[in-house]
Amino acid sequence: MILVTGGCGFIGSNFIRLWLAEKDEPLVNLDALTYAGNAENLADIQDNPAYHFEKVDLRDSKAVRAVVDFYRPRAVLHFAAESHVDRSIKEPEAFLQTNVMGTFNLLDSALNAWREQGEPEEFRFLHVSTDEVYGSLSMTDPAFTEQHPYQPNSPYSASKAASDHLVRAWHHTYGLPVLTSNCSNNYGPYQFPEKLIPLMIERALAGETLPVYGDGSNVRDWLYVEDHCKALMVVLEKGVPGETYNIGGRAERSNLDVVESLTNMLQILKPRQGGYRELIECVPDRPGHDRRYAIDTRFISEQLGWYPDVGFGDGLLKTVEWYLANRQWVDNVKSGEYMKWVDGHYAAGSSVSDPSENP
Ligand code: NAD
Ligand code: TYD
Repeated sequence: MILVTGGCGFIGSNFIRLWLAEKDEPLVNLDALTYAGNAENLADIQDNPAYHFEKVDLRDSKAVRAVVDFYRPRAVLHFAAESHVDRSIKEPEAFLQTNVMGTFNLLDSALNAWREQGEPEEFRFLHVSTDEVYGSLSMTDPAFTEQHPYQPNSPYSASKAASDHLVRAWHHTYGLPVLTSNCSNNYGPYQFPEKLIPLMIERALAGETLPVYGDGSNVRDWLYVEDHCKALMVVLEKGVPGETYNIGGRAERSNLDVVESLTNMLQILKPRQGGYRELIECVPDRPGHDRRYAIDTRFISEQLGWYPDVGFGDGLLKTVEWYLANRQWVDNVKSGEYMKWVDGHYAAGSSVSDPSENP
């Protein structure tokens, strides 16, 4: 049994789907179903007997402890977080509560479980973090290695950096077998349409302006979500406790490049009179906007044999096609309909399963 947190979010739901398709081991998903958590992301696997769900908030230490004690996982994969930089600028408190205190609560419960299991060497706590903890690169700096100093610049990245430090400390102080991964910007199916790529697809389809911050020259290193999930499986299986692994797509692009590529693809797949490009509009920059992120993937490639498979053009095309083919999912997310779906599907305030059941 493995425990995944945040499995109803973008990356977590892609990971769970891949895990259940490839592995013969049950999984429990602990998620509070915030605005970013959408149980409909996993509608196709709800009836899989290897899948368990617990609606629990990481900020509730007792509830977290109860789930970990009940399922006795051999590994914990920690995806749950407040994850949107723009929201962290407007309302940072939730980021500190979930990303810092929530991670502490999970570490505390995992440590307790590990000790109760007799401190097995094979136990793993895999913390999914971000390259944003390293701060900003100039256009000519070398890409981030695992040794790059921490220089977080936004409330989001500062809270993730704090959580990375807690995870490190639980290894050095208590011996918990932890692994940390720091990945670049993910894209692909099931991403909440507040992030750049799905936001631009949705606005373009609605004929709305495509707001590019500043002059659009900021650079991100784009990682297709399935490549990321495969990397996490490799890290979980072969990673050395205490190590950090950087995961990137080797696909640096300026934001303007990304948005222009999207408009070109949309024009082929769903032509618009006058094209989509005319919708692009440069708007005032994000405060503290990091100029460039880029990941040096040599360590994970050399140590664990992982390489990204999906090139940016292919990944972007798959993503655009997915959003075009899944209009109901998008409409539900946008209308809040998926919250109703959740209420109908899970009893309100559900908690740990009946302890008499064997997970
Ligand atoms: P997301 O925002 O799509 O999903 C987050 C999930 O966590 C949701 O299901 C939400 O309900 C859950 N959650 C939030 N607060 C919670 C709480 N207090 N208790 C329990 N569950 C809670 O995020 P994502 O894009 O899937 O990112 C997953 C992880 O990967 C995060 O830790 C993020 O920092 C990291 N990451 C993401 C990216 C990216 O490009 N998306 C890049 C680098 C790192
Ligand atoms: P985002 O998807 O929010 O991810 P992050 O800030 O974690 O990298 O943004 C990706 C890039 O796109 C970032 O440089 C900010 C930029 N951006 C825009 O230009 N316009 C937008 O409306 C958004 C949401 C992002």
